[in-house]
Amino acid sequence: MKVCVVEGTFGIENLRVVDRAEPTPGPGQVRIAVSVASLNYRDLLMVRGHYNPRQPLPLVPLSDGVGLIDAVGDRVDDLAVGDRVVGLFAPRWVAGEPTRDAIRYTRGGPIDGMLAQYVVSDAAGVAKVPSHLSDAEASTLPCAALTAWSALVTYGGIKAGDTVLVQGSGGVASFALDFALMHGARVIATTSCDVNADYLRERGADVVVRYDKTPEWGKAVRKHCGEGVDHVVEVGGAGTLAQSLRAVRPGGTVSLIGVLAGARGPVDLTPVLMSNVRVQGIFVGHREGFVAMTRAIARACTRPRIERVFPLDGVSAAFSMMASATHRGKICVAVSG
Ligand SMILES: NC(=O)c1ccc[n+]([C@@H]2O[C@H](COP(=O)([O-])OP(=O)(O)OC[C@H]3O[C@@H](n4cnc5c(N)ncnc54)[C@H](OP(=O)(O)O)[C@@H]3O)[C@@H](O)[C@H]2O)c1
Repeated sequence: MKVCVVEGTFGIENLRVVDRAEPTPGPGQVRIAVSVASLNYRDLLMVRGHYNPRQPLPLVPLSDGVGLIDAVGDRVDDLAVGDRVVGLFAPRWVAGEPTRDAIRYTRGGPIDGMLAQYVVSDAAGVAKVPSHLSDAEASTLPCAALTAWSALVTYGGIKAGDTVLVQGSGGVASFALDFALMHGARVIATTSCDVNADYLRERGADVVVRYDKTPEWGKAVRKHCGEGVDHVVEVGGAGTLAQSLRAVRPGGTVSLIGVLAGARGPVDLTPVLMSNVRVQGIFVGHREGFVAMTRAIARACTRPRIERVFPLDGVSAAFSMMASATHRGKICVAVSG
């Protein structure tokens, strides 16, 4: 089978498509014939060696991918050949609080990811996907979508009438926007360019604020929502947290998801305690959350936006597009066909 690996040393230039023996599912396992895999920002960090410089190589990248089950081992009751499934990001995190083992055992690093024609997984580490989605659309759900769902629904307790602040127009922010609207919430978004502002408005954002032109964007957001927003989907990290803390209402929630604007730096934590704000870390999510999310996506017929599907031998170009940050939808790779 064809497999894409980063080998030798880290770097997009060290991605290779190689041949490997086809894996066979053992007891309790299934084999997925992968059709499409998709990229997250984390995958770029992983391939560059920035996510975990001690990651052993070769590594098969990409946490997200979808395909049909084409072989089933003994003692698998709830899945059958022909089921369309994704590999879950944290295949051992079934529900409830995560264990250290569950959050260290994640696809696309440290364990091999979905950029292979066949992937064998424990049956509990895969989940079915909504039938209205194309393979490319379905491939995008395990990481960015579940992260947004966990922030707003599993741990955020979003309610109709809430106001949600999403930062930027990337994968996590776009899913968060969809899930906020799905729950009857209002969305305020920040972005750095006009085209993305139009995209966010078309997708349903009520107000869009340019964070590049308005350094005090937290104050600008507050002008549109009285006491402040109920939820912040924080993808900027240390560089944006101060503004998020200005934008959030007393008693509101900031879900800390990404560090696009820096992981370290001085942050005044006084508003967290003085305004009784809950700052919660989010690490993707568990299987139970994924199943709840896909039920909601199927009911609402939500469709993720796809930027482009690259062929397997164009995988380096797919990573380069992610690196150039010129994409507005999800970047995918067709693994078979
Ligand atoms: N904790 C978790 O479980 C988890 C899961 C998934 C992702 N993440 C992290 O979340 C972050 C976003 O991931 P993604 O997949 O959504 O990335 P992405 O699709 O590449 O989106 C990045 C977008 O973020 C916006 N952005 C960049 N810098 C910003 C800043 N300083 N302030 C506000 N917005 C900014 C930009 O939007 P505009 O171009 O519109 O300005 C950019 O297009 C990454 O750090 C990723 O590693 C964490």
